[in-house]
Amino acid sequence: LVVVEGTLFRFDYTYHQEAEGWFKLHRIPATWQNAYLNCYYEGAVLASPETENLRAALKSTVTGQQSGQSLQSCGIFTGIHATFGKGAYFSVEGTPLSRIPVAWAPGEPDNANNSEDCLLMLPNGTLADVNCSDVYPYVCYRKKQKNMPALNACGTVDNGYRFDSRTNSCYKFHTTPLIWTRAFVACAHEGGYLAIINSKLEHQLIKELYSKSYSSIISGNYNRGAIHLGYKSFEHLSLWMTIHGQTLKEAGFEEWSKGQPDHYNGRQDYGTLLKDGLLDDTGSNNILPFVCEKEPSSLLAAEDFS
Ligand SMILES: *[C@@H]1O[C@H](CO)[C@@H](O)[C@H](O)[C@H]1NC(C)=O
Ligand SMILES: *[C@@H]1O[C@H](CO)[C@@H](O)[C@H](O)[C@H]1NC(C)=O
Ligand SMILES: *[C@@H]1O[C@H](CO)[C@@H](O)[C@H](O)[C@H]1NC(C)=O
Repeated sequence: LVVVEGTLFRFDYTYHQEAEGWFKLHRIPATWQNAYLNCYYEGAVLASPETENLRAALKSTVTGQQSGQSLQSCGIFTGIHATFGKGAYFSVEGTPLSRIPVAWAPGEPDNANNSEDCLLMLPNGTLADVNCSDVYPYVCYRKKQKNMPALNACGTVDNGYRFDSRTNSCYKFHTTPLIWTRAFVACAHEGGYLAIINSKLEHQLIKELYSKSYSSIISGNYNRGAIHLGYKSFEHLSLWMTIHGQTLKEAGFEEWSKGQPDHYNGRQDYGTLLKDGLLDDTGSNNILPFVCEKEPSSLLAAEDFS
């Protein structure tokens, strides 16, 4: 493993000299808001052509000069948007459009049907406004900073992840509650997964983390007495599986709270851990804090670097 000093961020990002930072092209189209959040959870921002160099680097990404795979047909979402107020365009970093070097495609921007608040970069580098609910590929960008945090033992610059030698795994407690599917996505983009309990020891450890983090959980009108874990049931039946495809018994922990899982109202398909350490089921709209787990080496495999 050869790590060029200061050029390591995530295995799935590529360092661009001219952009003075790391890029990741997301080929799977997303709405603008999901693109924004996915970049955030990756520790980056939805890329905008804030400078000429960034514009050139983004353009070469769209045309496939970097990867050999072109996105000729569509273009990419930029981070420039007016979703906070009609017509007030800023990049997600807060730079006003007037300070961003843009060239518009012919006839753009047109705010067609008064429904276009997000800017798309076409393959030739020009911009057009589109509906933010449409889906496009996008690029996430992490600018290189002087005091860039080093990769920690968990293989990430996110120090919310702590290595625990008892299980040789890493854990991060999210104090901001999300619905289960969004929690799943947040963990995934951080390079981890919604935590799975594989032993009594890990159960103890996650319970401890929950207790320790309890007072930091964001206040609000929701249940702080449970956290999401990586468990899901299918077809409202009693088939509970981990997100890694094992039954709970196979995974190594299956202690439900008394009378649970009860699929209350026939709608509780997601697995949680109660404050007392026992399992419960919850509904798809229930926002809860959650724990992400991450393999310490998963972002440090030698073959991931070229
Ligand atoms: C604008 O709205 C009209 C009528 O609702 C629709 O036919 C047309 O496709 C829309 N145009 C765009 C660019 O969305
Ligand atoms: C974007 O398009 C969708 C339909 O695809 C429409 O429901 C929505 O109102 C449009 N967005 C805005 C801001 O008008
Ligand atoms: C860029 O692409 C758009 C959309 O295909 C096209 O209309 C425009 O003429 C192109 N502009 C340049 C400068 O090539």
